[in-house]
Amino acid sequence: MPHTTAAHRRRASRPLPLVAVGALVAAAVALPQLTPDAFAATTLRGYADGRGVRIGAAVGDSPLRSDSAYTTALDREFNSVTAENAMKWDAVEPSRGGFDWAAADRLVAHASAHGQGVRGHTLAWYAQLPSWLKNGNFSASELNTILKSHIDTEVGRYKGKVYAWDVVNETFNEDGSMRGSLWQDKLGTGYIANALRWAHAADPAAKLYINDYNIEADNAKSDALYALAKQLLADGVPLHGIGFQSHFVVGQVPSTMKANLKRFSDLGLEVSVTELDIRIPLPASSDELAQQSADYKTASENCLGVARCAGITVWGVSDKYSWIPGTFSGYGAALPYNESYAAKPAYTGLSNGLDPTA
Ligand code: G3I
Repeated sequence: MPHTTAAHRRRASRPLPLVAVGALVAAAVALPQLTPDAFAATTLRGYADGRGVRIGAAVGDSPLRSDSAYTTALDREFNSVTAENAMKWDAVEPSRGGFDWAAADRLVAHASAHGQGVRGHTLAWYAQLPSWLKNGNFSASELNTILKSHIDTEVGRYKGKVYAWDVVNETFNEDGSMRGSLWQDKLGTGYIANALRWAHAADPAAKLYINDYNIEADNAKSDALYALAKQLLADGVPLHGIGFQSHFVVGQVPSTMKANLKRFSDLGLEVSVTELDIRIPLPASSDELAQQSADYKTASENCLGVARCAGITVWGVSDKYSWIPGTFSGYGAALPYNESYAAKPAYTGLSNGLDPTA
């Protein structure tokens, strides 16, 4: 992929951060043959750079500002970031015409300072809408104008700084019917093509995605998305990729995942795993942590084994800030690092999934 070689070269020529130098010294004691470049290759981002793909993490604004152990792991291991909440509509325009870009700008600046790309998330979604929009009783024509203006403003603001946008998020029900939302109910399915066209006009270089969950397997929902994607491409709509969120339960990575991603890739679309986490009933046993490690490897290989896989993003860095326990009662331990930033077996699984020789 074009960004790869350049990114790899940039990384190889950049001085290692102090923490990495410290780790390098420690690693060199055990493995004297390691060179600085070889050490860099043993981080997640080192492997990803070497393959020309992204390894990303969803980033919360609060730990980004206040937790140096968090940013140390983030910057050492990941070459891509996604704003967990900071680019959503309720965050950037809490009152009509009253914008707050502080958290989103902070992440974009952080990424730029640490050689990371930014995935933009998300422009047209049913959730995390500000109340002025949700409760505004706008007409279809007003909503159309509001959505266009939102996309123009946000994509325009980060033009050249966001390499891919989740333009449309979570538009299907599990049975493949269109999910009810402010956009779907008032504007009909045509809002999807419009949103993609507006985003493309605002930043022609950004890759534009439809993103969803429970579409990793070959099922009714992914079939419906496949049909929609095919139609959008036939209509010349600028759709460039499909984001497979991949919020999994331990031991349940779908067996049809790779074949399913391949059929989208075969349409000429990029495929990306965009929100990977693998939750475990708490407390997690050592068997479950080992299974989770195998699952991280399988899930990442299911994407990287497909021609147009652009990369993998995990939905958080450490279990300390994961959304899982707050939403799935009794579950947790879903991410590669534990709450004290020790790498879990899941880290090794993900690392082995990225390492073509493992
Ligand atoms: O910003 C408010 C804050 O003002 C308020 O004081 C506080 C009190 O609860 O809530 C804050 O909002 C929270 C928001 O995250 C920002 O921290 C919401 O309560 C909380 O529900 C929200 O959760 C996010 C969730 O999306 C909302 O839908 C999670 O952090 C985030 O991880 C999650 O991410 C989604 C993806 O965008 C799409 N795919 C599924 C994924 C997991 O649900």
